[in-house]
Amino acid sequence: MKFGLIGAGAIGAIRASALERSKSCSLTAVHDLDEARARSLASSATFHPTVEALIESPDVEAVLISTPPQFHEALAVAAAKAGKHALVEKPMAATPDACERMIKAAKAAGTLLTVGYNQRYFPALKVVRDAVMSGDIGRLSHVRAYAGHGGLGEFKAPWMYDHAVMGGGALMDNGTHIVDLVRYIVGDPTEVFGQALHRVWGLDVEDEAMALLKSEDGVAASIEASWDEWKGYRFHIEAYGDRGMAKAYYAPMFATVIRMDKPGGSKSVERKFYPESIIREKIRGWQSTVIQAFVEEFDDFAAAAAGQQGSGRIAMGADGMRAVQIAHAVYDSSRTGSQVKLAPLP
Ligand SMILES: NC(=O)c1ccc[n+]([C@@H]2O[C@H](COP(=O)([O-])OP(=O)(O)OC[C@H]3O[C@@H](n4cnc5c(N)ncnc54)[C@H](O)[C@@H]3O)[C@@H](O)[C@H]2O)c1
Repeated sequence: MKFGLIGAGAIGAIRASALERSKSCSLTAVHDLDEARARSLASSATFHPTVEALIESPDVEAVLISTPPQFHEALAVAAAKAGKHALVEKPMAATPDACERMIKAAKAAGTLLTVGYNQRYFPALKVVRDAVMSGDIGRLSHVRAYAGHGGLGEFKAPWMYDHAVMGGGALMDNGTHIVDLVRYIVGDPTEVFGQALHRVWGLDVEDEAMALLKSEDGVAASIEASWDEWKGYRFHIEAYGDRGMAKAYYAPMFATVIRMDKPGGSKSVERKFYPESIIREKIRGWQSTVIQAFVEEFDDFAAAAAGQQGSGRIAMGADGMRAVQIAHAVYDSSRTGSQVKLAPLP
């Protein structure tokens, strides 16, 4: 699959490194408003001075959209209209309506639209998902998920906490990953109750969000997204069943699975550490873990474009839209003090 990259910033550069390592996908074209930045990534790829030229290029089969989110919709729709597949970075867009229009455009064109929820590919996350799906921890009861970082000091540009661009704060930023991971593990929530707080940074977007989600079959999830995690970037997710639990933690990456023969019965505890990932990150930074996840995600993208299942982990447009809908449901719930019901996905 030949990718044209739009947006050669921090994540675009990591995407380009992953494409260099990919066996299924390659980088053939790059565009950024900052020409020097785009050219620095282009190496064997062609620099295009406009998005139109990149999207129309016969050497581009799929467009990788890694700009700030306010441009995602127009670029994804343009890609679909040109018959090109698209992979859009998270959050898919600032509003559910924009996400819906992106999905409609891809559907009308018969093109693939996926969203960059690469944490689905983190090894510890696979352990949790597999423990739930295999029935290893019994009947699923509830999930706890948390994502936090230190907030404004982490951001390199004001758009990263601009309501008009992001549609929200912590929940649309790092929190969107755990919203997606909870859906990926529990299934789709239909009830949302939440609180969005603005007590730390004094912004019009939240620096802390807490939410309770409930799926149609009664599994509950608590979610917390934070921009005041003074210990530094981390996320974790724990799934509890009637015969055990599974936990994924990052960073550093580790996973735990506890299995029991009956509720409260004798336990076997499996702990998984990833020393190779810890050493690799010490030498090549956290980006090296993300590159590995991107490489697997690209394989799934190429498989999906060919009508194949791949690993089945890739997040589709509907997943991206649902994560944005859930974040907005939390904001509505926080404003009104009421629970928000989401219509089941078609
Ligand atoms: N998957 C992840 O884990 C992850 C992590 C961080 C950020 N992101 C997402 O990736 C996207 C990019 O974030 P970033 O941190 O790389 O931002 P960045 O500011 O480092 O890079 C954005 C780039 O887009 C370019 N750009 C802006 N508007 C453009 C336009 N209209 N056309 C072409 N180029 C344009 C800028 O010049 C810049 O080079 C965002 O949606 C962000 O939320 C994803």
